[in-house]
Amino acid sequence: MSKRPKFVAGNWKMYTSRGVAKELAAAVAQGAPAGVQVAVFPPSVWLTTVADALAGSAVGLGAQNCHFEKEGAFTGELSPQMLLEAGCRYTLVGHSERRHGLGEIHDFLNKKAKAALAAGLHVIFCVGELLAEREANQTEAVLEKQLTDGLAGIPAEHLPNLVIAYEPVWAIGTGKVATPEQAQAAHAFIRRKFAALFGEKSASVLLILYGGSVKPENAADLLHQPDVDGALVGGASMKADSFLGIVRAAV
Ligand code: PGA
Repeated sequence: MSKRPKFVAGNWKMYTSRGVAKELAAAVAQGAPAGVQVAVFPPSVWLTTVADALAGSAVGLGAQNCHFEKEGAFTGELSPQMLLEAGCRYTLVGHSERRHGLGEIHDFLNKKAKAALAAGLHVIFCVGELLAEREANQTEAVLEKQLTDGLAGIPAEHLPNLVIAYEPVWAIGTGKVATPEQAQAAHAFIRRKFAALFGEKSASVLLILYGGSVKPENAADLLHQPDVDGALVGGASMKADSFLGIVRAAV
């Protein structure tokens, strides 16, 4: 087992009402065991509500997206500085629903990751292949491109605040979880690639989360793989019981 801490993050996507967000955050804050980093990523409009519900707990708050500029004429966007002021410690960058649903690409995601890290946010940078890419044996090539382009130029001093989430697109929201062996193989590849980009030392402490149909029933097997340092959970993070079941599997 690695000495890296475990980290379990809940991505609420475009779900929850204000009342549900408040209750869910309070239940997670109350039930999260010590010894695992936990964070929740509510819709932006509920960030301050959830920040209040988490006050005094060790559970972190994150945004699902951020812009790379500090301010400006960017209708509908939020800057890293705004997210920090709303109480965020984290932001996701490059979730597949933004890459493939909204057409966000390498250079754009690279700017976001660099700006968020420079502002002082911790970034969970998401990568992962489509089913057709896996079937064509392109998984490693896709991950390599996403990492090389997406992380280009990140200064060494910001690497401690960077987390990678490996989320095979075919596993997100489909119930088709990657096998522990598939996850381990991809995570080990990501760590090797990260070492080539940033050095062995940074790679050895890098947290790599697995995401895609993680449930309390399959979490332990995934989380005990040597290069799997936690989980990024969508569907199962929207009920406190199932999310906390996954968090407990990481202890
Ligand atoms: P899922 O989503 O757990 O519902 O598959 C994961 C994610 O989108 O981060």
